[in-house]
Amino acid sequence: MSQKPQNEFNNITMTKIRAAITGVNGYVPEYILTNNELATMIDTTDEWIMTRIGIKERRIQKGEGLGTSDMGAEAVLGLLKKTNTKPEDVDFLICATVTPDMQFPATANVISDKVGITNAFSFDLNAGCSGFLFALATASKYVESGEYKKVIVVGAEKMSSIVDYTDRAVCPIFGDGAAAVMLEPTTEDLGIVDSMMKVDGAGRKYLHQKAGGSVKPSSHETIDAREHFIYQEGQPVFKYAVTNMADISVEMMKKHNLTADDIAWLVPHQANMRIIDATANRMGLSKEKVMINIQKYGNTTAATLPLCLWEWESQLKKGDNIILAAFGAGFTWGAIYLKWAYNS
Ligand code: UT7
Repeated sequence: MSQKPQNEFNNITMTKIRAAITGVNGYVPEYILTNNELATMIDTTDEWIMTRIGIKERRIQKGEGLGTSDMGAEAVLGLLKKTNTKPEDVDFLICATVTPDMQFPATANVISDKVGITNAFSFDLNAGCSGFLFALATASKYVESGEYKKVIVVGAEKMSSIVDYTDRAVCPIFGDGAAAVMLEPTTEDLGIVDSMMKVDGAGRKYLHQKAGGSVKPSSHETIDAREHFIYQEGQPVFKYAVTNMADISVEMMKKHNLTADDIAWLVPHQANMRIIDATANRMGLSKEKVMINIQKYGNTTAATLPLCLWEWESQLKKGDNIILAAFGAGFTWGAIYLKWAYNS
């Protein structure tokens, strides 16, 4: 059903364009790092990791010279094939990542080059674990403008490149992977309806990388102090994540008069099973409506949400009301409400 609001000043009929996801594809590396293998590297147990986080195993990208763009390119290549899109027809690509191939140029440009996207502009977006959500909201505005017809949003991370595998409070959490969606315009009552995004930069003290940036460039000392790895104070991050991810999801429901019955799926960021449960509970959703694959991929940061969409794609139906929600480093958090646009 098309929506045609009247322009009251000159009586021109305008057609509202929305951005709809028209395809999704993911890629995870083959190597599986299990809790049992981790227990040979650090003082931990499968039981502790399952109880406190809910992760059984995660994927790790192995191989000399491989990085985030290689996983991103795999995801995008498969997406182009699935959606029958020629690379030269893509207008714009955003890569959400905190583990770019290098500080510059943007990993998005490297992905575009690797898959043959030559008529597009592209850039990276860093919003921690909310990266895909922020990138999807950003890309949707370009599509809504009517000027961009085929836009790709990819979340890709080689978290293993910044994880300290001697830090038992951090290393069980993260994994590697990538997934991408195609966004195209629609005038039907489908696609991205609304996005809400928030940041609180004061939260940066609890989750960041101490060295390797302009404040503290890499040096022998920073390497010796292991400052190029993730620094995380788990408890405050947990506390803020539980509150903010649940609050914004509930706010989105209230804004659109959505009850739990109206929602087909919650796609939550996969950081900790307890954070996912708390968000679903606050929204009044039963577990069957929540996409959960944390047990096999862990926290792939900007890749968690599209990896879920990829895995559940065959179960999604045209018109399904879906809420995506995330929380991450920054602090960043947010929610997107969309109506799924196709049956697979
Ligand atoms: O997307 C945003 C990214 N990050 C997050 O969302 C992370 C949010 N935070 C969390 O998920 C949790 O805080 C963690 C999973 C990181 C930690 O769980 P916790 O329940 O907050 O544990 P804790 O840090 O309070 O540590 C409890 C105990 C400590 O021992 P003591 O001091 O009580 O003796 C830790 O040393 O658990 C110990 N511990 C471990 N024990 C076995 C910490 N890591 C491990 C481990 N295995 N891997």
